[in-house]
Amino acid sequence: MQKSIVYLLFIIQTLICDNVDVNSPEFAEQLYIKLFKRRRAEQLEAVKSFKKIGSYEKQYSMIFLMAEKVFGTIQESRAQIESSGYIPGTSQFPTEVKTREALSNILENTALFSEIILRFPEISTIVLKLNNNWDLLLRWCIIFCNEVHYLLDTSTVKLINLVSQELNHTERDPNYINPYRKSVSKGGNVQEEDVKVEKKRKRKEIRKGPRLTEL
Ligand SMILES: *[C@@H]1O[C@H](CO)[C@@H](O)[C@H](O)[C@H]1NC(C)=O
Repeated sequence: MQKSIVYLLFIIQTLICDNVDVNSPEFAEQLYIKLFKRRRAEQLEAVKSFKKIGSYEKQYSMIFLMAEKVFGTIQESRAQIESSGYIPGTSQFPTEVKTREALSNILENTALFSEIILRFPEISTIVLKLNNNWDLLLRWCIIFCNEVHYLLDTSTVKLINLVSQELNHTERDPNYINPYRKSVSKGGNVQEEDVKVEKKRKRKEIRKGPRLTEL
């Protein structure tokens, strides 16, 4: 099992001892922002591996199962955070572990499912349409995330903004396109882009190795 960000935060806070007031909400917040960014990079790798699942049916059931887990967690965390008195955008970074976990669960899971929505818009839209309570919960999440945008990295803020447009929660920018949609006419789809990046990376890796002439 992957360690929770809040757990990592706790470990780091206990490891650092001099000078800084490690228990201050400001310090915890700065640390959290860094850890969140790293967690997002890990998430992205996991989501990319979803693309390798071949059939539509398999992708559909994976996304459905994921949605069940994501929204189940968010539902619980929402209850937790609302009863804690935490007000997004107003309260300082929570000091209680339970509240921190709830906050982090909401942010992580919203980002994760947003990534899925953009990359698998056809399937995700169906899943959300068939489960209206998930769609409503997601709207709540997006508002919540926007209120605590200072905890998120810029790419996550952008992602969430794109998802609001993809789902028509907010009016689409005239230039809005989901780069991952298969039917996108301009510039092709991202599967191709992913391949290009993959190729570039491979080339780089080869170059990094010792040259024949150096042997
Ligand atoms: C959002 O609106 C666009 C344009 O009207 C439409 O094509 C699309 O199906 C809508 N998406 C959802 C998820 O309702």
